[in-house]
Amino acid sequence: MFSSRTRWDRAENRLARAIGARREKGEAILDLTESNPTRVGLMAPAGVLELLARPESLAYAPDPRGRAAAREAVATDARRRGVEPAPDQVVLTASTSEAYALAFKLLCDPGDAVLVPRPSYPLFDFLADLESVRVDRYALALDGTWRLDLEDLRRAISPETRAVVVVNPNNPTGSFVRRDELGALLDLCGERGLVLISDEVFADYAFGRDPRRVAAIDGGDRALVLSFGGISKSCGLPQLKLAWIVATGPEPLRSEALARLEIAADTYLSVGTPVQQAAHDILARLPELQAPIAARVRLNLDTLTGLCHSESPATLLDVEGGWCAVLRVPATVSEEERVCRLVRDRGVLVHPGYFFDFGSEAYVVVSLLPDPETFGRGAEILLADP
Ligand SMILES: Cc1ncc(COP(=O)(O)O)c(C=O)c1O
Repeated sequence: MFSSRTRWDRAENRLARAIGARREKGEAILDLTESNPTRVGLMAPAGVLELLARPESLAYAPDPRGRAAAREAVATDARRRGVEPAPDQVVLTASTSEAYALAFKLLCDPGDAVLVPRPSYPLFDFLADLESVRVDRYALALDGTWRLDLEDLRRAISPETRAVVVVNPNNPTGSFVRRDELGALLDLCGERGLVLISDEVFADYAFGRDPRRVAAIDGGDRALVLSFGGISKSCGLPQLKLAWIVATGPEPLRSEALARLEIAADTYLSVGTPVQQAAHDILARLPELQAPIAARVRLNLDTLTGLCHSESPATLLDVEGGWCAVLRVPATVSEEERVCRLVRDRGVLVHPGYFFDFGSEAYVVVSLLPDPETFGRGAEILLADP
């Protein structure tokens, strides 16, 4: 009766059982995986709600690409990162997950493939499954810092490949695309007729400045680029459901992509009117909404750095931005064994590296969003774990 693409393995894994067992005993968990800002004392000020309560929002006048004023606000916001799209290069979506879904519908027939980085964000498999798209992977190589392995990327391209995804900065490695990598990437996509999808949801969260990093990608005259952003991360407002796709690159490809995306978006019209009406004012308050989140991730990263010393069993990997940090841990036990043991015996919850498809063991990933007290206590236990 059901489609094969929804035939997911839903069996409870060992980590979920360990969490459940601890909760059943009424024992606390220091959750270092929490990445929902509204659950860690980073709720937006109530004034944001007032921006949504406009009488105009009671009228329904859908525009498939999204309201013009909202698209203009997104285009203006992009200028901070050095890209200057026109408002008609913007298509609004309810989330970046939906942006992926629309992009995959635009680019792929069933059985076609998209290339995603390894390690990266685990939702890709589900997003691709739902569009009957195959996920192939290219490596990010760790050599002190993370680099895009262009040779591996070239090797991974097959006749079915339609798009290359970069996550900039990547979740969970926190690595940005470099200027020297970008030129090669755009040339490769242009030559091979591939679209570059650039997920820039964490682009504002950079630790320090580095002129070698790329903050936002514009396809220019080289390749069609679909860049994704959204207020879920940039403003810490995942509950409002507003994100976008910005299309750049050569004509007539760009206009063709936008015209097709418009019809796909028109089929669902999924972005609510109140958030579109408020988009301009929300983005105008972005610095104020973003600052506490940026301060939190910085503080927790400093705590983690301070706890890592030459005798710690764990090593903090280079992190340039985003909301996560990765630790290399002794491979004396498997990642699964370590994370289950940590939650069962020490009450500390972290992600195992395999969750993000690290090519080898042993890594753990922590969110940098938890409240500093929880984070500090959990990190201390984690870093002392042999
Ligand atoms: C890299 C990356 N892209 C996209 C998303 C999805 O964000 P949204 O809330 O806009 O769907 C996430 C969520 O964690 C993410 O980590």
